[in-house]
Order: sequence, then C-alpha cells, then structure tokens
Amino acid sequence: MSVTIGVDVGGTKIAAGAVSDEGEMLAYVRKPTPAGDPDSVVRVITECVAELEKSYEVVSIGIGAAGFVDAARKSVVFAPNLAWRNEPLAVRVSERTGRTVVVENDANAAAWAEFKFGAAAGTKSAIIVTVGTGIGGGVIINDELLRGSHGFATEIGHIGLVPEGKLCGCGLKGCWEAYASGNALVRTAREFATESPTVAARLLELAGGTPEGISGIMVTQAAQEGDPLSIKCFEQIGHYMGKGMADLAAVLDPEMFVLAGGVCEAGDLLLDPTRRSLADSLTASSFRPAIPVGVATLGNEAGIIGAADLARR
Ligand code: BGC
Ligand code: NA
Ligand code: ZN
Repeated sequence: MSVTIGVDVGGTKIAAGAVSDEGEMLAYVRKPTPAGDPDSVVRVITECVAELEKSYEVVSIGIGAAGFVDAARKSVVFAPNLAWRNEPLAVRVSERTGRTVVVENDANAAAWAEFKFGAAAGTKSAIIVTVGTGIGGGVIINDELLRGSHGFATEIGHIGLVPEGKLCGCGLKGCWEAYASGNALVRTAREFATESPTVAARLLELAGGTPEGISGIMVTQAAQEGDPLSIKCFEQIGHYMGKGMADLAAVLDPEMFVLAGGVCEAGDLLLDPTRRSLADSLTASSFRPAIPVGVATLGNEAGIIGAADLARR
C-alpha cells in the first residue's frame, strides 16, 4: 500500500489527509486558514503535512485549490473568490516539504473522488457540480478528467447564464455561480427579506432580526420546517441549477450529474426543482434518456481524497 497526502484549502480551514491507493482516508488533520498572505497558507499546509508524515511514508502531495490551476498543475493562476494571483503553490510547498507536489482545481479533485470512489463510481462519463461560495465543476469523459489546453476547462461557474446579469467575482456579469451557488442562495434570501420582511418573518427570526444575519444553514432549516419563502429560495436556486446543467448536457452528454457541497443537505428541496428545470431546459429531451442527478457521497472528504489520488498521476 502506498500513501499520498491530499490537502483541501478552504476559506475557513485547511484540511489534509493521508490516503491509501484504494481511496481510504487513513488519518486526518485540520487547521484554521490563516488570514493574510499566501505565505502563511503555505506554512499551515506544511505543518499539516509534517503531522501526517509522522505516521506514514508519503509518496507525494496533492493540493486542491479553489481557482484556475495551470496545465502543469503547479500554480493557481487566478481565484475569483480568493486573493491568489499567479501563486506558485506547488513549488513553495515542495521547497518546504521536500516532496513532489501537484495542485489541482478543488472541484476537479472532488469530482475525481466521486467518480472513482463515490456517487459516480461505475459510470464512464459524469459531470460533478460542487456548490459552495462559488460553483465548481469536474467533468469526466470516458474515464478521463477533462482539463482543456491550459488547465482551465470546467470553470463551469462562469458560464454566462443570464445576459447582463449580476456581477460575479470573476469580473463578468450573469455567471452561473452568481445565480445558483451557496452565496446566491443567501443573497436571494436576504433580498426577499429586505423587500418583504413580513413574508420573511421566520427567516428574520432565525437571523436575529436583520437580513444580513441570514445564513445558508438558516434557509435550509426554515425550508425543512416548511417555511414557504425559504422553499421558494431553493426553488429559485434549483431553477438556475437545472438550466446550467442542461447547457452542460447539450455540450457533453454525460451519463449522470452529481451535485456536491453543503447545499445538498437541503436534499429534495433543492433536487426536485433542479431535476424539473434540467428536464424542462434539456434540448431534445423527449428523444433522449433522462439524465439522473445524484448526490455526492464523500462529503467534505472528497476534495482531500481526490487531490491525493490525482497526486499519483
Ligand atoms: C472558481 C473555481 C472553483 C469554484 C469552486 C469558482 O469561483 O472559479 O476555480 O472550482 O469556484 O470553489
Ligand atoms: Na474544474
Ligand atoms: Zn464569473
């Protein structure tokens, strides 16, 4: 058995795991993401690696990062929702650890794990949509991760879904992630609560009285209790989610979609409108098999397991 380390660099925490070649997480550490310069992120990654190396003979390290990663799998070129610009992450971590390091797009890493060990195992072509702050994607076609010519393929959060629509962190308007991400869910709920406080009474109660206090977890909780406004928020997100999926399906014709990320905890509240909207927007839908939308099974571990597995390749 050989062991690689997978690292998931998130906005609030850095999580790392020692992973076997069977995709099993043997050990896990996590630390808060330090505020400030990318240097301190590199330091914390190095500390996580050092802890895991105490117990395992490590072959290589894979790091999942939420941004555009170059074709050499070494640098984060651009991150719409983070401060990284042309950040040579692999070289820096490699200097400190003395190991071979590859950097992967966070969603590619999670998608690869779901494809090999999770919800899409057994398929040959699948599209994994990870929903968090933004929308990330991983596309597997005939058992291969789609990378594009510069490494930037599957930046699906930035397909232009709404002409002249809302501003996105990437600088463009109308991107998918401005309409169907976790951030979009919260923004939608806050907008409703600002416009119609009476209708949003339950959400505002959970939020301590102000629209700014509303979080994604609160919208999920209220929707699960049956609050009509919160259910409507999920319907709106699901509507855009399915529309974006239909566009992707028109290009890539996948066997299935897998939805991943915190919003999946809402279950059918999100899945039902997503599936409906996908069916309604899919071209030639009465002449082709329906495309199933499944839910990720590896949860928070997907990014680590996928990055670790991709570090073997
Ligand atoms: C970024 C992607 C990332 C996704 C999910 C998007 O805003 O452009 O690189 O995969 O968010 O984190
Ligand atoms: Na991707
Ligand atoms: Zn964008």
